[in-house]
Amino acid sequence: MKITPARRINGRVQLPGDKSISHRAAIIAALANGTSRITNYSPSEDCAATLSCLRNLGVSIQSEGGSVIVGGAGKSGLRVANEALFCGNSGSTMRMLAGVLAGQDFSSTLTGDDSLSSRPMQRIIEPLQLMGAEIGSENGKPPLTIKGRNPLKPIRYELPVASAQVKSCVLLAGLNAQGRTEVIEREETRDHSERMLKWFDVPLEWSVDGAISIDGPRTFAARDVTVPGDISSAAFLMAAAALLPESRLDAEGVGLNPTRTMFVSMLRSLGVAIEVTDEREESYEPVGRVGVKGKLRADPPSPVDSTLVRGNLIAQLIDELPLLAVVGTQMPGGIEIRDAAELRRKESDRIDATVRNLRAMGAEVQEFEDGLAVNGRTQLRGAMLDSYGDHRIAMAFAVAALTAAGDSEIAGAECVGVSFPDFFRLLESLVER
Ligand code: S3P
Repeated sequence: MKITPARRINGRVQLPGDKSISHRAAIIAALANGTSRITNYSPSEDCAATLSCLRNLGVSIQSEGGSVIVGGAGKSGLRVANEALFCGNSGSTMRMLAGVLAGQDFSSTLTGDDSLSSRPMQRIIEPLQLMGAEIGSENGKPPLTIKGRNPLKPIRYELPVASAQVKSCVLLAGLNAQGRTEVIEREETRDHSERMLKWFDVPLEWSVDGAISIDGPRTFAARDVTVPGDISSAAFLMAAAALLPESRLDAEGVGLNPTRTMFVSMLRSLGVAIEVTDEREESYEPVGRVGVKGKLRADPPSPVDSTLVRGNLIAQLIDELPLLAVVGTQMPGGIEIRDAAELRRKESDRIDATVRNLRAMGAEVQEFEDGLAVNGRTQLRGAMLDSYGDHRIAMAFAVAALTAAGDSEIAGAECVGVSFPDFFRLLESLVER
């Protein structure tokens, strides 16, 4: 993909449905009794992988425009798949479905593409084995073979890594456990599974020590869901608006779950004018319109201290960190990101991919095992860039390329389809040169 620098971006957009919420809506609707309509289901390849796996497990699924209609199989209605369940590039699909399959009285195999096949699965294997499922893997990596057990044994489990996927995996397994399953997270991660389970009237409890508990076995009825726009997709457009002077972006119907809005708070603290209006709730998820104004040329400069992002901020910003590094190159004090070794275990090694691309554009970058630091106020230059097969890297560097001097080219940019197939078309429709 060739990217020519832009003067500013200007316009109004409607974001496609949130990827994280769509996975959960589809999986939970598949386990419900009755038919659920999911409106604004994410058009991402990742969420299509979830639907295809559910179909292979005997769930009836129809697409109708932007909606998906799921004929729930009920608690015991999934049936053995006649082939391995291919999760594509999607860690969420594999980790959450593993939680469901652990509680079935049949065996399943979960596979993925090359990237997913190199990602760590021990984090879900351990709790699911404690619950009584038998799980085979390649040294803790996919493919996973899951010999389910019904009912599972309930556990009290403290997450060793801050991961919403692992938390969700254990909660979903808890639906098929005999008794109370408890999950404790030391650092707060996105809570879409909790909200979606409650939307389907599955009771959850939060104890004073921070444990989330679910009582199994549990049956529940179908319910229609409306998925908010994806704030992690909006983040790329918001960053472009923030970095290009005199831009104006209005993003409609964006999910504003407080566990996902830290990037908005970061932009604000860096001096970007962001206004949230028309706030409402859809299927227990907060939603609103986000307006971003690029700096006026006459605006006073932002603070010059380097911004340090670390600790429990990392889980709140996990998908936005490469983009934040790009934004940091334009802020007066630069940015340092630490405690983020988890980034090396995403769809690519996102620290390495970000450092290489930023250096190619002329930024001064320090790499750490657990993060990176960039100098601020850098005029990036157009360069040959690489997505490393990772959708969020491709989109972060499309934004960087818009602010650069000279054209850039991103190799392997088609991977944006993993989360945001319409990204380049939408971005181009907003750009003014
Ligand atoms: C996700 C959780 C995060 C995030 C991923 C989606 C989810 O992963 O990076 O893009 O939907 O639960 P981890 O839970 O592994 O940090």
